[in-house]
Amino acid sequence: MDPTTFSAFRDLVTSRRSVRRFAPKAVDPALITAVMEAIRFSPSPTNRMCFRFVGVTDPLLLQSMKNDVMLQVEEVSKTLDREAAETFREYARWFSFFDQAPLAIVGLFRVFASRLPGGTGTEPSIEGLAEVQAFGGAVHALMLGLHAQGLGSCWMSGPLIAESQIERLLHVERPWRVGAVIPVGWPEKMPAVPRKPELGTFFSWFPA
Ligand SMILES: Cc1cc2nc3c(=O)[nH]c(=O)nc-3n(C[C@H](O)[C@H](O)[C@H](O)COP(=O)(O)O)c2cc1C
Repeated sequence: MDPTTFSAFRDLVTSRRSVRRFAPKAVDPALITAVMEAIRFSPSPTNRMCFRFVGVTDPLLLQSMKNDVMLQVEEVSKTLDREAAETFREYARWFSFFDQAPLAIVGLFRVFASRLPGGTGTEPSIEGLAEVQAFGGAVHALMLGLHAQGLGSCWMSGPLIAESQIERLLHVERPWRVGAVIPVGWPEKMPAVPRKPELGTFFSWFPA
């Protein structure tokens, strides 16, 4: 490997930001398929390939997804007292901006029934979570690949408030589930770096 590879990797990982505002400019599908070609090499438990991605560019479909999210936000708000409902509605604006991007990539995952014993303690086995972990790893790789193409993206789990409605719109059937909505586009501007953990609070050696 080229010795400059690590510095390129470090710069890529540290300069990626969650982008929530996009320029009104289309994304060449070839840029996306090039990233997908790379991230299909992401690891998965026992190589089960438990994740998939679906690109959505139809603005009407994105609008329908957003409408479903907003309807669900209203449904949840109705169950809350006035103040909590207002706070929740305010927070929920982070759930719905994906329709402002020229493209949203919807991440799907599936969980396999475990054939291993569930453990002897009271804690449930973590086996079933392995696919979800692998899905998360693939999403991060995807975002880094998009960033390397100059594209911005944002990993969004907020839209999952309307998980079943989005699944219906995209014809997603069990065992597949929607795990994330990822708007993608040319960043209007790169956001500032938010607070990140100090190395000492985030990593340690054992024994010290
Ligand atoms: C699993 C996951 C779910 C997220 N869901 C949302 C979301 O629904 N809406 C949103 O605006 N940002 C969402 N984010 C982005 C985080 O807010 C963001 O990663 C964090 O603030 C750090 O900023 P950075 O990505 O620019 O480093 C999510 C991130 C992760 C990892």
